[in-house]
Amino acid sequence: MGAADLASVLAMLTPRADPRLLVGHGTFDDAAVFEIMPGLALVQTVDFFAPIVDDPFDFGRVAAANALSDVYAMGGEPLTALAIAAFPTGTLPTSVLGDILRGGQAMVHEAGALLVGGHTITDEEIKFGLAVTGRVDPARCLTNALATPGDVLLLTKPIGTGILATQAKRGRLNENGKAALVASMTTLNANASRAALAVNARCATDVTGFGLLGHALHIARASNVTVRIRAAAVPVLPGTLEALRDGARTGGAERNATFVAPFVSWGDVNGELRAIVLDPQTSGGLLVALAPEKVDDFRARMPAAVVVGNVSERGPQPLVVA
Ligand code: CO
Ligand code: CO
Repeated sequence: MGAADLASVLAMLTPRADPRLLVGHGTFDDAAVFEIMPGLALVQTVDFFAPIVDDPFDFGRVAAANALSDVYAMGGEPLTALAIAAFPTGTLPTSVLGDILRGGQAMVHEAGALLVGGHTITDEEIKFGLAVTGRVDPARCLTNALATPGDVLLLTKPIGTGILATQAKRGRLNENGKAALVASMTTLNANASRAALAVNARCATDVTGFGLLGHALHIARASNVTVRIRAAAVPVLPGTLEALRDGARTGGAERNATFVAPFVSWGDVNGELRAIVLDPQTSGGLLVALAPEKVDDFRARMPAAVVVGNVSERGPQPLVVA
């Protein structure tokens, strides 16, 4: 769901305060963090969606990498995963579901975790994902709420999965483009997370459905700062600009534009760059806030990371795109 619809639904819930709940949904974080003993907390998250690539095995890998990512975005280590699947039994051979699950399991194993169970329902449309449980040291947990004025923002994967997946659905993405798309979405955020922890980062999130701007806004609001994004600096996957020029548009980008509109001050940013910073990502990279003196160390550990913006005291708007 779009961020605005989701917020209106969550407003109907009354959270129960509990000192063991270290991170709940008040800070728009990627996963809940629940302390089970001093120095040890559970990280819990769930994510599932309909296929965004044709190959069932690849879809399973993508969905699993995306679900595992929320644990990495909290600085956690995935331990166990439960599969959630909806499948049109009777319409498609069950081997297709087997391939999806095999893909998911392969990714869970790559993360060093175990697939320990799951639940399936019959449904007209395939959907697949994972509920993932991990562990984290509460003192080292990465949250949206700990960005500090002066921090630099780094992004660890290029943007473009929404635009490219749309272009693929239109039958207009070549094999190289498809391969780059799948390769990006099946790259775990494990190394990015470990690099962030190694340099004592405290603030990170993963860039997924709300786009780079939507997730940057979550950091800005949770940390009560202004986040400035330099749109021209944002790295993109190969073929993304070509797909945009060919008319690839997503409904998610429209929703993201509406969501951030009241909170963003746009500089001189052209339509293509706007589309990129609003593009909904699947299994996107980590957006990490770091003190400037830690940037070189982080990039030495995570060479793919690119500086895309910075953090300042809260100005008139929480988000500035220039
Ligand atoms: Co997330
Ligand atoms: Co999620």
